[in-house]
Amino acid sequence: MQRLEVLGANKLKGQINISGSKNASLPILAATLLSKNKITLKNLPKIKDIETMITLLESLGSKIKKKRDKIIIDNTNQKKTFASYNLVKTMRGSILVLGPLLAKFKKAKVSSPGGCVIGVRPIDIHLKSLSKLGVKYKIDQGYVIATAPKGLIGTKIRFPKISVGATENLIIAACFAKGTTTLKNCAIEPEILDLVNFLNKAGCNVKWTSKRTVKIIGVASIKNINYQIMFDRIEAGTYMVAAALTEGSLKITNIKPDIIQTEIKILRKIGAKIKISKNDIKVTGRKKIKGLNIKTAPYPGLATDMQAQIMVLLCKANNKSTIKENIFENRFLHVAELNRMGAQISTKGNMAYIPGNIKFAPAELMATDLRASVSLVLAALTAKGKSVINRIYHLDRGYENIEKKLKKVGAKIRRVN
Ligand code: EPZ
Repeated sequence: MQRLEVLGANKLKGQINISGSKNASLPILAATLLSKNKITLKNLPKIKDIETMITLLESLGSKIKKKRDKIIIDNTNQKKTFASYNLVKTMRGSILVLGPLLAKFKKAKVSSPGGCVIGVRPIDIHLKSLSKLGVKYKIDQGYVIATAPKGLIGTKIRFPKISVGATENLIIAACFAKGTTTLKNCAIEPEILDLVNFLNKAGCNVKWTSKRTVKIIGVASIKNINYQIMFDRIEAGTYMVAAALTEGSLKITNIKPDIIQTEIKILRKIGAKIKISKNDIKVTGRKKIKGLNIKTAPYPGLATDMQAQIMVLLCKANNKSTIKENIFENRFLHVAELNRMGAQISTKGNMAYIPGNIKFAPAELMATDLRASVSLVLAALTAKGKSVINRIYHLDRGYENIEKKLKKVGAKIRRVN
């Protein structure tokens, strides 16, 4: 089992280049199933979740050629509609193949993803919304067995709750539905806009008619296209926090500041100096860090995927803070580990109370989920001495070459087998 050894504390200085977005790549990879021939994708991040999704597509019959900076997906003989448990269990985003398989083949058997440490992660909104498009489904032995005997029929659907995955599954499914589908109360994360750009470039007809309403006019097929995935705003935000935390100065490239506005505002309020330009953000940390009361919310609110990282920064503030986690029911798993480094954070339900004025002590730590894991790396960067982070396969699911990128800007960090 690999682990990371981090020797803190030192200021990070230099430039970090952001990789492609995990959460844009997954729905776009799933959407390539709509194609009956070739799609080329560029800028996919080299991370475990993408490898898993590619393996899943290959198990469905896609032929995938991996080149240095792109993949070529050939679906000429893609005919399978069965996504097995042993693949889906390792990556929940696999449920995103349900919509495209139903759109293309009018049937699918996909393992239900099950929960994960941060929450039950139900898919009821996905399934109930698909049934409004004419899909019949049942859950049998952990599999969603779905058919659309008369094909998918466009209709009006209002999501009962804002869901990124359900919005993505339904937009993709509706691309081949007969007639027009209107989806209301959609999630509008930048990764969803990237998916819509991909679909429209491929010949679909998806238009935003108001802030959270999208109208899709069904088409019969999609064209061969070559598409570059957007960059990863959560990876960018993570390294912005690293600069503020270590009182260093980092230039984060390949990030459009307008898609990370809320996090920029919060970091400025906390005390970081932030200079933005068209495609990069320069963050300089300051000694004095101010506590804040913040809450996570669907985009454009504070990203829940940034909550753990910002919590580490607030531990160093010279007054107390609170964080309200509004998206997932169990997304404070990093608290116990941070407390082993001296953080003294307490939680009650979805509230975390951070006293501040903390000097992290190094420790041997256990990663639990992707974003919790990276918060331990951040804390270890500012703890004087050697910390060890175990179970870093969680990290490798979502961060490309994290130790290489950090080492390049002065972190003393190494991966140990
Ligand atoms: C996506 O998960 C992201 N994953 C998550 O990123 C991210 O944290 C989340 O959106 C919120 O922004 C990918 O894009 C692959 P949701 P998703 O459906 O789609 C409830 C990371 O670290 N819900 O928006 O699963 C759900 O339980 C990951 O990169 C239902 O009740 O999130 C949650 O409380 C972690 N029924 C809330 O909605 C449903 O059918 C938001 O979930 C679906 C969701």
